[in-house]
Amino acid sequence: MGISASLVLLPGDGVGPEIVDATKPVISAIQSAFGHAFATQELLIGGAAIDAYGIPFRAEDLEACKASDAVLLGAIGGPKWDDPNAKTRPELGLLALRKGMELFANLRPVSVMPALVNTSPVKAEIVTGVDMMIVRELTGGLYFGRPRRKWLERRGRAALDTLIYREYEVDRIVRLAFDLARGRRSKVASVDKANVIETSRLWRTIVNEIAAGYPDVEVEHVLVDAMTMRLIKGPAKFDVIVTENMFGDILTDEASVLAGSIGLLPSASIGKARGKDDLRWRGMFEPIHGSAPHMTGTGRANPTGTILSFALLLRLSLGLEAEAVAVERAVQETIEAGIRTPDIVEAGMTAVTTAAFGDEVASRIRL
Ligand code: IPM
Ligand code: MN
Repeated sequence: MGISASLVLLPGDGVGPEIVDATKPVISAIQSAFGHAFATQELLIGGAAIDAYGIPFRAEDLEACKASDAVLLGAIGGPKWDDPNAKTRPELGLLALRKGMELFANLRPVSVMPALVNTSPVKAEIVTGVDMMIVRELTGGLYFGRPRRKWLERRGRAALDTLIYREYEVDRIVRLAFDLARGRRSKVASVDKANVIETSRLWRTIVNEIAAGYPDVEVEHVLVDAMTMRLIKGPAKFDVIVTENMFGDILTDEASVLAGSIGLLPSASIGKARGKDDLRWRGMFEPIHGSAPHMTGTGRANPTGTILSFALLLRLSLGLEAEAVAVERAVQETIEAGIRTPDIVEAGMTAVTTAAFGDEVASRIRL
């Protein structure tokens, strides 16, 4: 039996509209193959919303996202809105959405498809077997801490951000990481900077307390600077990695290089389960890459991260596991067939456009 679901699409800026458009045939193919009815609604966020409404995300659009079953986002930001003295910024729209939907956990799976082991700048023998889940805290830390301001003093300009973590914020994300590890290889690496900063010492203490309740899960603490090296030297050893907001932002861009291209990686931002008897997550799904202004309109953007984000949406927010697998398998078959966007094309292959890649994936969707 098919289900009905309402989806909000937020294409955003730069290549965002192109990669979301390339995902639409995949969304349709899933509906027809499995007999579901998805009602989609498209709304503005980021620079596009600043241009249309003067603000990067409207309150009524946040309400529409909250009322929907899941949200799929493209990318936001661009040089047009980058003036450091501007009154508002596209990124604030994304932060408002994450905070407004209480999406405290950002899951960024990083794995390397066998067909792509030679497209990473890191040696094939190092990237082979990489399969990790990076769990990034998403609604706390430096991104949201108050106070935040800039001012002028006698000796020059100054600016302040606040790095604060409260116990409940650390507790819920770390527990989620341990629970996820149980469904995988039962290993958690917690990343912090406990040798220098207080929030990291709190983080580490809480990780150790929670770890006591998960004797079957192996835990390790890694300092963030050391982690940047270990991600390149021995990434296949990691299973679940859990870390705070800003460290997670930086480490996931680095980790994407292992996969072959930042355009490949999806993410799921989740908060609460829908209810006591309904364990599906409220979520927002987006590729980890940005708006890539230099590629906008060229047809060169890789929509894989967005298409795989849609797979995560099916799995986590709609509870449709077979459908998620169908999307993931179709993506893999397309890439194995040598149908690739320019970022991952190899010798002897001809690159296809963003839109053509989406159509090729859609044509491979089956029960
Ligand atoms: C990401 C992006 C965002 C972040 C920006 C666009 C606000 O880099 O999703 O990783 O820093 O979280
Ligand atoms: Mn980022």
